[in-house]
Amino acid sequence: MKILIVHGPNLNLLGKRNKEIYGEKTLDEISSMLQSHAAELGIQVGFLQSNSEGELVDFVQKESPNAEGIIINPGALTHYGLSLRDALFDSNLPIIEVHLSNIYAREEFRHTSVIAPIARAQISGLGWRGYIAALRAMVAELRGTVWQ
Ligand code: DQA
Repeated sequence: MKILIVHGPNLNLLGKRNKEIYGEKTLDEISSMLQSHAAELGIQVGFLQSNSEGELVDFVQKESPNAEGIIINPGALTHYGLSLRDALFDSNLPIIEVHLSNIYAREEFRHTSVIAPIARAQISGLGWRGYIAALRAMVAELRGTVWQ
């Protein structure tokens, strides 16, 4: 089983950017934690971070036929990224949308997600733990088991 883990614009700066909101961990640290959880679960993960919507769309189009689910933090594209939304929808895979911060407790423009209506679930505000929760929940759902 392979799950894609996708990060949108500016998430390459985690660990430097607005630490009170996004936390201290870098994207590499989060990815290596996810990699260890994936190994423990006996699954594969494929990662991409991009600052460009087109590159995210290309990745989803190319990689989704070989995957069983997508975990995505779309960054600011959450709020207006319609071509990303279409690519995710067209993948026909279950999508879990993750946000480090609680987008509903922030500026009003962050309260709308164009991704949420096509997602299986959204996790917002759990910091880096949200990615682990998403991975474990997705694998449990795909396997029809309880969370491990
Ligand atoms: C974010 C929330 C978005 O509003 C913001 O543009 C981001 C990060 C989060 O993880 O909390 O880049 O997706």
